[in-house]
Amino acid sequence: MKRKSSKVLSTETKRKFIKKCPTCGEDIEKVYLSNGDTFITECRCIERQRELDEINKMANNKKLIIQKNKEQCGFSKRDFEDTQTKIILNKGNIDPYNKLIDYANAFNENTSIGFYLFGSPGVGKSFLSKKVMAIVLNHGFSAYITSVTKLMKDIKNEMKVYNDDTFRKCLEVDLLVIDDIGTEKPTDFDKAQMFEIINSRYENKKPIIYTSNLKIDDIKMKYDDFGRIYSRIVGSTIQLTILSPDHRIEVE
Ligand SMILES: Nc1ncnc2c1ncn2[C@@H]1O[C@H](COP(=O)(O)OP(=O)(O)O)[C@@H](O)[C@H]1O
Ligand SMILES: [Mg+2]
Ligand SMILES: [Zn+2]
Repeated sequence: MKRKSSKVLSTETKRKFIKKCPTCGEDIEKVYLSNGDTFITECRCIERQRELDEINKMANNKKLIIQKNKEQCGFSKRDFEDTQTKIILNKGNIDPYNKLIDYANAFNENTSIGFYLFGSPGVGKSFLSKKVMAIVLNHGFSAYITSVTKLMKDIKNEMKVYNDDTFRKCLEVDLLVIDDIGTEKPTDFDKAQMFEIINSRYENKKPIIYTSNLKIDDIKMKYDDFGRIYSRIVGSTIQLTILSPDHRIEVE
C-alpha cells in the first residue's frame, strides 16, 4: 500500500472522497483498481509519521546493536554483575583506573592502542577491563573478553565443526580483552594461533587489553620463542601496574 493522493495509477478505475484530513487539509480518498483491490490514500501527516517511525526504528536498531554486542562479548552473568559493582578506589588502582576510564570514554574507530595490565591475583585487573568493556559496549562498539585457555579450547572445538566464530570475533571486534595471559602452558599450536590474532590486530591497528600476573618480560620468556608476540604487545600497549590496596606506592 504505497501511493500519493495526487498520483493516479494506470489500473485505477475510480475514487471516492472520504474526508479532509483535519490536520493538513489534504483530501483522503478511497481508490478502486481494475483488479478489484481498493486502498485509502495517504495525506502528508501519514507520510511524516512513517518518517518518524523510520527514525525510531533506527534508534531502536542502535539499541539492538548494543544488546547484540553485549550478548556476544563473552561476559558471564557474574561479569555483568561486576560491571555494575561500584569500584573501590585506593592508592594502588586509582591511577590505572583514571587512565582506563578516560580511554574507554574516548574509545572510537581509530583507537589502536591497548593496555597491558600487570598485577598480583585479585587486585582487579579483570574487573577494570570489564569496566572498560561496559563503557565501550554502551557506546555502540563491539568487544570480546576471553582467556588464552578458553580461547584455545573454543578454537579447537569450533574447528571440528568447521566454525571459526571465536577466531573471527577475535580479529574483528573493536576491542579485544585477553584475560590472564601467561597462566597457561601453550603448545606450539596455541602459540601460532595467538600470534595470528595478535599480529592481525596489530597490523589492522585494533586494540587489545591484556591482563596478567606476569611482568611483560616474563611473557617473553614463557610464551614467545621468537619475541614476536612480545614485540607486538610492547608496540601496541600502555603498560599499567595495579597494586594491592595495602601496597605502598614506591617511587622508582
Ligand atoms: N577496585 C575494586 N572495587 C570493587 N571490587 C573489586 C575491585 N577490584 C576487584 N574487585 C572484586 O574482586 C574480584 C576479583 O578481581 P579480579 O579483577 O578478578 O582480579 P584479577 O583479575 O586482578 O586477578 C572481582 O570479581 C571484583 O568483584
Ligand atoms: Mg583476572
Ligand atoms: Zn494530514
